[in-house]
Amino acid sequence: MGTPGEKPRSMLSADYQRDWPEYFDAVDGKPPRDTLVRALDAFEREGRPAGKGPLLAVDIACGQGRDTLEMLRRTSPRWRVIAVDSHTEATRRTLAAIALEDMERVLVCQLRMEEIAERGAGTIPARVDLINASFALPFCEPGAFASLWGFITGRLGRGGRFSGQFFGDRDEWSCVRPQSHFTRAQVEALLQPFAVEHMEEVDKEGDDAIGGVKRHHVFHVVARRL
Ligand SMILES: C[S@@+](CC[C@H](N)C(=O)[O-])C[C@H]1O[C@@H](n2cnc3c(N)ncnc32)[C@H](O)[C@@H]1O
Repeated sequence: MGTPGEKPRSMLSADYQRDWPEYFDAVDGKPPRDTLVRALDAFEREGRPAGKGPLLAVDIACGQGRDTLEMLRRTSPRWRVIAVDSHTEATRRTLAAIALEDMERVLVCQLRMEEIAERGAGTIPARVDLINASFALPFCEPGAFASLWGFITGRLGRGGRFSGQFFGDRDEWSCVRPQSHFTRAQVEALLQPFAVEHMEEVDKEGDDAIGGVKRHHVFHVVARRL
């Protein structure tokens, strides 16, 4: 037990779940993730030939929609978004936050990321411009990770981007499910089919989203498909 006034350690169950609605409440109103903003800015800098329609993004494990909303907000280029999350409360909150006039550019699906490669195949077109997975991939069951990553690299055409996070091997939660945590060398190996535009490795003791403390070891990545 900690001393009085000390923050509790951040908890995660053995099946790598947590109280997601509590998390959604805690991050409500927070800005989009920096990795997503970097990826969107990179597309903006590249420009989009006149007359071309919106680009297509997939937001894996969209949570309460903070990143999906930012994609829909951008106008140069404009985006269509397929947002997926396994939690009913995530899809409900994401849908509720979308403005009526943006509805025609977004599809919100309740789907486990482990099923995206198989069940998402009919919904997600063969070529996608951006796949965003903010603090998402660590929650993929380890046995399904290779197929999910294969789907991500396969659906991104040349010049498409991945933005998101990998949890590192020194992260506090690695003892819960070590297979979902990667060394820097392993992250670099996964990113072989990409030119890495941004990689920030954070290894620090810090606050978690819901008021606990945690040793964070995270790789923040933006990468462009070769
Ligand atoms: C840390 S939150 C990240 C949410 C959001 N992307 C963000 O950056 O705030 C993790 C999200 O993963 C979702 N999630 C957990 N396991 C999942 C799974 N197997 N398939 C799809 N989504 C999952 C949770 O419902 C939650 O919304």
